[in-house]
Amino acid sequence: MPRLPLAAATGPRTGARHRLHRLYRPADLVILGLGVMIGAGIFSVAGRQAVTTAGPGVILSFMIAGIASLLAALCYAELASTIPASGSAYTFSYVLFGEVGAWVVGWALLLEMQLAAAVVARVWALYAAQTFADLGVPLPVPQGVLTALVLGLLTATVAMSARFGLRALWLIVVAKLAAIAAVIAVGALHFDPANLGDFIAPHQPSSGPPDTLLGLVVGPAGSFGWFGVFAAAPAIAFAYIGFDVVATAAEETLDAPRAVPKGMIRSLVIATVLYIAVAVVMVGMVPYTRISEVAPLAAAFAAVGEDAMVHVINIGAVLGLTTVIMVLIAGQTRIMFAMARDGLLPRGLGTLSRRYHSPTRVTLVIGVTAILLAELAPVLMLEQIVVVGALFAFLAVSAGVIVLRRRMPDAPRGFSVPLSPLLPALSMLATLWLMVNLSVQTWLSFAAWMAVGVLAYLVYGRRRSPLAAPVASGRGRHRR
Ligand code: ALA
Repeated sequence: MPRLPLAAATGPRTGARHRLHRLYRPADLVILGLGVMIGAGIFSVAGRQAVTTAGPGVILSFMIAGIASLLAALCYAELASTIPASGSAYTFSYVLFGEVGAWVVGWALLLEMQLAAAVVARVWALYAAQTFADLGVPLPVPQGVLTALVLGLLTATVAMSARFGLRALWLIVVAKLAAIAAVIAVGALHFDPANLGDFIAPHQPSSGPPDTLLGLVVGPAGSFGWFGVFAAAPAIAFAYIGFDVVATAAEETLDAPRAVPKGMIRSLVIATVLYIAVAVVMVGMVPYTRISEVAPLAAAFAAVGEDAMVHVINIGAVLGLTTVIMVLIAGQTRIMFAMARDGLLPRGLGTLSRRYHSPTRVTLVIGVTAILLAELAPVLMLEQIVVVGALFAFLAVSAGVIVLRRRMPDAPRGFSVPLSPLLPALSMLATLWLMVNLSVQTWLSFAAWMAVGVLAYLVYGRRRSPLAAPVASGRGRHRR
């Protein structure tokens, strides 16, 4: 299987492929990471997992998902520092595993980011509607219109100017962090250790058929108890999704081999600390059985009489989710742009707008697809599919470090995973554990998406491959 030569992939070093402006410094990458990570996961998924699956032990679920994410982030950091290209895991796989591996990983990343943008936009509309309701103002338009509006505006922002997007991102992320800080500080005042009494809540056996992949093998495991703590971790992983998106900014980062690992790992560590602190105050304020599945944080503060905090949370969530959507759209444009630039997707998508110096065309395609998905599919039930797409890429990236060390031990890099191959192997195990705890329905949907992807590769990508031998017609062949 042909592999992309390392020198062909690393545009910023060789100048061979680099066409995007270099814009980001390490602090911008931390903001980018926090901008995309802190969102629906902490504002809504955490509470739902506490009340349905893990009880107060959801704090441990955050730690488990955080450790798995940190292991994967170390692996991402080494590959991004060696192959700082905008395709992230897609391009790493092209260099390390060859074209089929790259296509499969790229296809999974498209699922992850495209669906995540649609899911988060729907949650955004829920919070925006709640903000209007709490202020006593009737919602001026239906929620579906709000969803389309936010996706449309953010798509236009990403399409027109990376620099404007970056300024807006800083402002909004700082406001979101202030809201999270208020949640932790005010929540701590109402912390009651009695609410953590049943820290590992009594196990409840399941009466239905097994619903996770692991359950198919070992039988249905029910919820709560230690099992619940581990079972909640894959859903909680949704909150950590986004540190991987930082790698898609590599090609636009100054001194990417050093800056990307720093930005990615710092943002993940900050997010992990904040998540654990928010989870502690959430389950410490009210008994876990009384946490609301719909608006867990706001309802917990309302229950302890902190009504002003309800507004802070709703506004914080609206702001916070805005940056999640914006960075997800931007990240996905870079993956699709890289795939199109390589010829595996239509080359027209791999062009930059002369006017805006951004991949404007591909951004519009992504924005319109996100609107259609959010409007037409029950995306609020599909967040596990986002997780499986991300975990699939984590697996490839962790294996990729082991392959990189064997194949290109001397390739210059800005960061090395300590204790390799032990930590990459542990990363693979942790990721696999999260994956087998995802629902059977999620796996079936993922398998269907990947089957469509393989078909698309056979019908289109393979024939346009930049690495294939030229054919008589000479169409779409080697350009390097
Ligand atoms: N981590 C992002 C969120 O929680 C996707 O919204």
